[in-house]
Amino acid sequence: MININSRHAAFGLTMLLLFFISSTKAQTYAENGMVVSDNVIASQVGVDIMKKGGNAIDAAVATAFALEVTHPEAGNIGGGGFIVFMKSDGDVTTFDFREKAPLAASPGMFLDENGEIKNNSNHQGLLAVGVPGTVAGLYQAHQKYGKLPWAELVKPSVELAKKGFTMTYGLYNVAVRMSERDPAEDIMRNYFRGEDGEVVKPGETWKQPALAYTLKQIEKHGRDGFYKGEVAQKIEDYMKANGGIITKEDLEKYEAVEREPLKGTFNGYDIYSMPPPSSGGVALIEMMNLMEQANISSVEFNSTAYVHLVAEAMRRAFADRAEYLGDPDFNLDMPLDRLLSKDFAKTRFENIDMNKASISDPAQFGHPYGGDNTTHFSIVDKEGNAISLTYTLENSYGVKMGSDKLGFIFNNEMGDFNPVPGVTTATGQIGSDPNLVAPEKRMLSSMTPTIIAKDGKPYLVIGSPGGRTIINTVFQTVLNVLAYDMRIDRAIEAMKIHHQWLPDQILYERNLLSPDTRDALEKMGHTLRPTTNIGVLMGITYDASTKLYTGSSDSSSEDGGARGY
Ligand code: DON
Repeated sequence: MININSRHAAFGLTMLLLFFISSTKAQTYAENGMVVSDNVIASQVGVDIMKKGGNAIDAAVATAFALEVTHPEAGNIGGGGFIVFMKSDGDVTTFDFREKAPLAASPGMFLDENGEIKNNSNHQGLLAVGVPGTVAGLYQAHQKYGKLPWAELVKPSVELAKKGFTMTYGLYNVAVRMSERDPAEDIMRNYFRGEDGEVVKPGETWKQPALAYTLKQIEKHGRDGFYKGEVAQKIEDYMKANGGIITKEDLEKYEAVEREPLKGTFNGYDIYSMPPPSSGGVALIEMMNLMEQANISSVEFNSTAYVHLVAEAMRRAFADRAEYLGDPDFNLDMPLDRLLSKDFAKTRFENIDMNKASISDPAQFGHPYGGDNTTHFSIVDKEGNAISLTYTLENSYGVKMGSDKLGFIFNNEMGDFNPVPGVTTATGQIGSDPNLVAPEKRMLSSMTPTIIAKDGKPYLVIGSPGGRTIINTVFQTVLNVLAYDMRIDRAIEAMKIHHQWLPDQILYERNLLSPDTRDALEKMGHTLRPTTNIGVLMGITYDASTKLYTGSSDSSSEDGGARGY
């Protein structure tokens, strides 16, 4: 068994207490600053950084590294993501650290001689790995806007990995399943084991020495600690030995990009979200514009009219997403202005029949549902800065492969490219040009980190995992707060649906939509399919009258929670 010394046991006990306290609370309040993430330990790491004088960017960097340690199914240094950052002066910017296709990638790289996808290779095995962007993105954001020294922000995660933290029931569940995997996929099989070779049990301390080594390189050398030197060499060695194509050159060439945010409005609120290569901001703003046309607040929440209208808006936005969107560096003519305009929403709204479902034409566009993990966190600080950050490995534990010398898992984000050029099917596989594979291209994302502002100040900071469902989850939560006046926790928990053009069906949360409503929707021509849960939202709202932040983490997050001060 692992030797748990008393200092570690005390640390573990505190963390366990934090976990229990947070999981009984629907809302958390704070005056100065707050972090809401998928793991309370990581939220506390972010708050501690702010208490030491760090700003929201500093807290985001520290929280993101901590999630790599405590929430490794999605918290990552082996993947990528997006930050939307609203500064206290009302200015908004974004950072794009989406993974890129390696230099040796090509549009047909996943196909066999018959033009069919070979062995699910866009999702499984090292060909599915995109060049990771997380460390570069966090470093760039910190270089430009951080206050505390970089090393101070990475240090807590080095310590967490080295000294360990208390295994939770949520992690243990996964750990047992992973430990039974095929021995060939050794890193996952051994990931959650202690020095004695046994899977670490709830209440015991889980240490990750190899990850501590990698994080230490990043603490000492910043961006170069990952993209150059020992770590880069070990990544290349691992790739070469296991059929991957990512090289040191790919790593060295990777750059994060600061981009202008997309801006929309809804009934006097400003919406700031992520531009391409995420499709999230475009689709969110397009749908909010449609809702403004419809005067959504006069449509009762969860009624037949609500589900129909919202689903029709989703259908249209997802068709446009598939037709037009991809990496902006490769698609210079995306009609963003048109898609985001109120006039366009008007024409889109006019062809919604409030009594009848439209039809998604399979000869046109759509996109398959997403995989099962990504993570979002929201942060506000005492200066009035706000951060909305979503990052991912694509599936839960990404490609489930990585070097045991480095202790982190690689993404399988290449699966977000359109895999078969020219082939679009009714089941939702897309083959349109804007999102085909090309060397150094970023794959289209659905991540939708978003900040809603009122009078130039953050009002709602929100985001979620969930693949393509992310866009619709964020959309409905924003509507719940802005149009239906729901408290943040209720907006997060309220019934969600998902429609993504193709397949032509409404996914709804089981037990939250009445049979009568479902009947009425089916009579209008909709196909309905139940699912257990949509979204794992992490949100913060600000009340200008009390000057208080309110944070809430989705009840579907096992170890998540809000922390403030
Ligand atoms: O970038 C994207 O849209 C996807 N790779 C995200 C995957 C995801 O959210 C899976 N999680 N729940």
